[in-house]
Amino acid sequence: MGTVVAACLADLGHNVIGVEIDPDRLPSLNNGEPPIFEAGLADRLRTGVESGRLFFTSDYQLAMDRTEIVFLCVDTPPGVNGHPDMSSVASAARSIGAALYSDHVIVTKSTVPVGSGNWLETTIGAELPHGVTPDVVCVVSNPEFLREGSAVEDFLHPERIVVGGDCPESLEKVAQIYEPILSQSFEGGDPTKKPTLVKTGRATAEMIKYAANAFLATKISFINEIANICEWLDADVEDVAHAIGLDSRIGSGFLNAGVGWGGSCFDKDTAALASMAREQGIEPLILDAVRRVNANQRHIVVRKLQAHLHPLRGRRVALLGVSFKPGTDDTRDAPAISIASSLVRKGVLVRASDPMVTELPEVPGIQIVDDPFEAVRDADAIVLLTEWPEFLDMDFVKIADRMRGKVVIDGRNALDPDVVVDAGLVYEGIGRHPAPS
Ligand code: UDX
Repeated sequence: MGTVVAACLADLGHNVIGVEIDPDRLPSLNNGEPPIFEAGLADRLRTGVESGRLFFTSDYQLAMDRTEIVFLCVDTPPGVNGHPDMSSVASAARSIGAALYSDHVIVTKSTVPVGSGNWLETTIGAELPHGVTPDVVCVVSNPEFLREGSAVEDFLHPERIVVGGDCPESLEKVAQIYEPILSQSFEGGDPTKKPTLVKTGRATAEMIKYAANAFLATKISFINEIANICEWLDADVEDVAHAIGLDSRIGSGFLNAGVGWGGSCFDKDTAALASMAREQGIEPLILDAVRRVNANQRHIVVRKLQAHLHPLRGRRVALLGVSFKPGTDDTRDAPAISIASSLVRKGVLVRASDPMVTELPEVPGIQIVDDPFEAVRDADAIVLLTEWPEFLDMDFVKIADRMRGKVVIDGRNALDPDVVVDAGLVYEGIGRHPAPS
């Protein structure tokens, strides 16, 4: 997400230096080529580089000498016992410290355990050049809430900007950076939708990030549990979600039942928060349940297939969608990984298709093909795992012709059941009426 932050800040008129230590990525970035696909990123990156407001270097000293605010955007992948792996953050912090000769605000955008601000100040402070005193460093937490696929939009049009720290001047400096966004005064901004600025303590800001992701994950697990109950009581979760979402106290977002959440954040962040709670002697009852419901939700698809196709051994199943959500090629913690692995273990021949994913090394034995009609050829059942628009519009009569069986499991409740049934196929969603027989 560092590239998004750098490109957007340059787009807002700031002078930005991006530190990139990967020698393969550095020249591409300076050519304006982003390392990831994000809508709207390539244009902004190129414009930033061409305007001279943005350039990338691997030289920490150069970057520290020419700046006064540092956004720390390095990855915190899952580590052991639920803790994020902080080695990249630690390494960046040491490099920053060793190059610091003047006052700097260090802004953490990486999702780091609550209390990491203190640890960062100490880590940076321990590396400062001889004669430089620790008061040159002030760490401010400024969590990001960017979603993959809409990260640029989310950055420029947020609902809130959170800054947390003990030093009011540093908080003010960071708020100033965001001024064009706060006032929505940049070209393309929407002054009728100005974000709220939340100034708070550093630990609180760090906690806000975890609590936000944990709450979103909770909403999804909640509606998935309701969906599972709906199935056996002849109720329809889609109508339930719609109706409860109309209550503004509940809100309509994140109530789509299905195979559950995946991606790089929810699993990692709920695990980290649960682990932080345990360290304090607090049993994270809700977080544990949210995580268990999500893990279970993936088994539900396999159980549905078993109910239709027992025994599974020797059957052919086509998976439509491999990425953890549409609009990205990211497969981190994608439901497709656990579902395909379980099916392969049970002797199922699994073929998948995804508009952006061409391989899934975590699942040896899975075959991934470009053409979804090729994936469904001779399949006994197909399972929609990612609601890519191109899958929702598919010709189900043509699909029915190619399949050797009839079962369609809609793991995202995104297909029109009537279209599927009219093609002569058997439709089953997650918690959708009618209940399984
Ligand atoms: C999330 C947060 O939304 C974002 O604020 C944070 O900064 C990073 O984590 P992201 O992981 O990009 O963003 O994806 P998001 O759109 O939130 O979806 C996460 C997962 O939840 C996906 O697998 C999606 O399919 C699933 N989901 C989402 C549901 O199953 N049901 C829903 O109603 C919504």
